[in-house]
Amino acid sequence: MYDLLLRSCRIYPETTLVDIGIKAGKIAAIQPLITDPAARAIDCGGQLVTPPFVESHIHLDSVLAAGQPRFNASGTLFEGIQIWGERKQSLTHEDVQKRALEALKLMAANGVLYVRTHVDVTEPKLIALDALLELREQVKDWMTVQVVAFPQDGIYSRPENEALLEEALKRGADAVGGIPHYELTREDGVRSIQRIFDLAEQYDRLIDVHCDEVDDDQSRFVEVIVAEAIKRGGGERVSASHTTAFGSYNDAYAYKLLGFIQRTNINFIPNPLINITLQGRMDTYPKRRGLTRIKELWQNGVNVSLGQDCIYDPWYILGTGSMIGVAHMAVHVAQMTGLQEIDACFDMVTHNGARSLHISDYGIKVGNPANVAVLGVTDPFNAIRYQVTPRYVISQGKVIAETQPTQTSVTV
Ligand code: FE2
Repeated sequence: MYDLLLRSCRIYPETTLVDIGIKAGKIAAIQPLITDPAARAIDCGGQLVTPPFVESHIHLDSVLAAGQPRFNASGTLFEGIQIWGERKQSLTHEDVQKRALEALKLMAANGVLYVRTHVDVTEPKLIALDALLELREQVKDWMTVQVVAFPQDGIYSRPENEALLEEALKRGADAVGGIPHYELTREDGVRSIQRIFDLAEQYDRLIDVHCDEVDDDQSRFVEVIVAEAIKRGGGERVSASHTTAFGSYNDAYAYKLLGFIQRTNINFIPNPLINITLQGRMDTYPKRRGLTRIKELWQNGVNVSLGQDCIYDPWYILGTGSMIGVAHMAVHVAQMTGLQEIDACFDMVTHNGARSLHISDYGIKVGNPANVAVLGVTDPFNAIRYQVTPRYVISQGKVIAETQPTQTSVTV
């Protein structure tokens, strides 16, 4: 007797349809026809059943706070940081949890069941950190949340920030973050990366650094992260987020760097929705795309996963919680319109994300947690083409979201 049975599932790229039997929150059987009874059965009608989407990079402390105290008029990263600097003075535990929970539900409805959030730990009381660490536990039956301690204003820009970052790790943050391009000097930026690696070793945590999120073609902190990963090893535990300057580097330098990157296993996490709007703001024309070299990283075997970064916050006023929407933007901005390339963009919001986040029991396999999304299309290409919302989202064996397909009649 299964708790839940999914019938006629298409697990891409396999073409044979299978049934998936779910028991006690785990995938118990995958075979062409399951005849045992189940408490509930869903006919998937030969449609795509995918492992859940992975949100590799978001800021849950600032979600749904756009316009507070004012909207970002210039649209730049730095005005966003300024507005957030004001808004975070009035943060409360409840305020952060309420907005973050609402965003997690939006994401769950879109089939996202793994989320890595950065949280600003330059606020002296660490209110947002405590709120998100508590929320991580409260939602763990239906959503896996990883918290990155993120020193938004820099580790060395104020004397207390370094200790706050370490305190965040002591309180239970899953990963160490940083923002070397926003440190006061290049030397501080280099020093900050070395400190991040030291802390990660000391507290046995992952690393995810906001790195070179500027248009400055001289912003060269990816190379510092790569160098640390080469010297210390363990690159698969390290992620470089945004890395938009990589799109502005001269080709000779970029290709030299790509060779160094291949000596590590570090992950890249671009955020195409926001960076296509944030970057290039100081350019006239031609205006740069402000995106890292997604296609070249992918072509050279580097793990690339994608993030939304923001949902309706001081940096980005749009956002729906859909990782398919993010993949759709990546297809356009990275010019990945070949069929294989579109499939690769789907991987960037599923399997590659699981790799960046170090999730060991991800995927539709017997014994893994029963986490899947049932999409109303037959393959990843059409999921992105139509930007579908999942019909069913199943987390740890329970249906946690259902969306009825929209019906349109054309009368001509
Ligand atoms: Fe970010």
